Amino acid sequence: MADTLTITDNRTGKQYEVPIQDGTIKATDLRQIKVTSDEFGMMTYDPAFMNTAACKSRITFIDGDKGVLLYRGYPIEQLAEKSDFLEVAYLILFGELPTTKAHEDWARDVTLHTMLHTNLAKLMEGFRHDAHPMGMFISTVGALSTFYPDAKDIFSPESRRLQTVRLIAKVPSISAYAFRHSIGRPFNQPDNDLSYAGNFLSMLFRMTELKYTPNPVLERALDVLFILHADHEQNCSTSTMRAIGSSHADPYSALAGAAAALYGPLHGGANEAVLRMLHEIGSINNVPAFIKRVKAGEGRLMGFGHRVYKSYDPRAKIIKRMADLVFDVMGKNPLLEMALELERIALEDEYFVSRKLYPNVDFYSGLIYQAMGFPVDMFPVLFAIPRTAGWIAQWEEMLNDPDQKIARPRQIYLGHGPRDYVPRERRK
Ligand code: CMC
Repeated sequence: MADTLTITDNRTGKQYEVPIQDGTIKATDLRQIKVTSDEFGMMTYDPAFMNTAACKSRITFIDGDKGVLLYRGYPIEQLAEKSDFLEVAYLILFGELPTTKAHEDWARDVTLHTMLHTNLAKLMEGFRHDAHPMGMFISTVGALSTFYPDAKDIFSPESRRLQTVRLIAKVPSISAYAFRHSIGRPFNQPDNDLSYAGNFLSMLFRMTELKYTPNPVLERALDVLFILHADHEQNCSTSTMRAIGSSHADPYSALAGAAAALYGPLHGGANEAVLRMLHEIGSINNVPAFIKRVKAGEGRLMGFGHRVYKSYDPRAKIIKRMADLVFDVMGKNPLLEMALELERIALEDEYFVSRKLYPNVDFYSGLIYQAMGFPVDMFPVLFAIPRTAGWIAQWEEMLNDPDQKIARPRQIYLGHGPRDYVPRERRK
């Protein structure tokens, strides 16, 4: 028997057979359900896409109940332990782990594109001294589209590959420039001898020394954090990347939009919000009162809860372990104790347990970033750098998918029916 769903419309008594594929029915198959032939047909109402698959994807798999995260089939735990960010970015973008030769070529290509056009640096100099680095990041990535008009050739695989290399290579440079600008220091040029994470640390923190040598523990920790943030299937920013890309905008414009979506405190801005929350709580003694306020609906426990994970976020587990390595080098973050106490209380509390609210990736990442010397407002930028790999991979998958068209949801119109214009003097 074919896999179908039988729907009976009680208004007409008619029955409809709707095919089921991959555990899903096509929303457009419901359009045949109508009372009269001139009716539009049945739609589904799904604000916030709680139960709608908007694409088929082969990139990232999440089992939210079991806390499983796979990139192209490889468990995140194995990648975090054995791989490096550039290799993971290659995997996400091109579907397979690179051979030694492919890895070398990829790393060389990325390294050769890390420099920014001097006019781009001038553009960044124009921001106010206290501009938020994420605002600078979004604007500068968008501005890249004016430097590389060839990026409009989105159906050329060669052009897409070139823009991909440029983006992966330049987002750390843009981020480091944003950081240096905000602390009033001159920009550091990239150092091609260093690793992806090492070069980023050099562009951020090099002072007068001729050669910056990154601390290997911090370099590795940053690289692992990049691996953990590289993709996360159809989240808010990735859906934005796909939606903008579906109008055939160039990848820089689409990525600026995706980064803007990431900026919000419910998404990539959550790690920043966690730190602000911890500062606001102030001391471990205030934790119970804070939890009480959250339960009363007066604010959220930032860094907790997830649309998909209904168990411990596997990325949070890895980050929590890594925090100890970073704290050994940099000294313990005094906010850690408070975070651990918040987690302890929340994991025992009925409010959080019944809603399956567990720490997500952002709960501990900010503590590590802060211990490494990053100011809080750099946190979302540190999320955007690695997520660039996921955004581009998802954008390319969308462009190559024959099922996809320009994204255009429907609405349920509840406003006025047609009415005549009222002159201003007769309005009440
Ligand atoms: N603190 C307190 N209550 C919460 C929280 C929280 N962090 N998250 C969810 N709830 C409650 C919420 O009030 C609701 O309760 P009720 O059923 O009584 O109304 C219930 O749990 C379900 O919440 P929801 O808002 O319907 O869940 P959602 O899937 O729409 O939201 C979320 C997911 C991540 C936006 C949300 O959990 C949240 O706001 N968390 C805090 C922000 C955060 O840490 N975001 C980072 C997410 S992971 C990284 C990323 O995606 O960038």
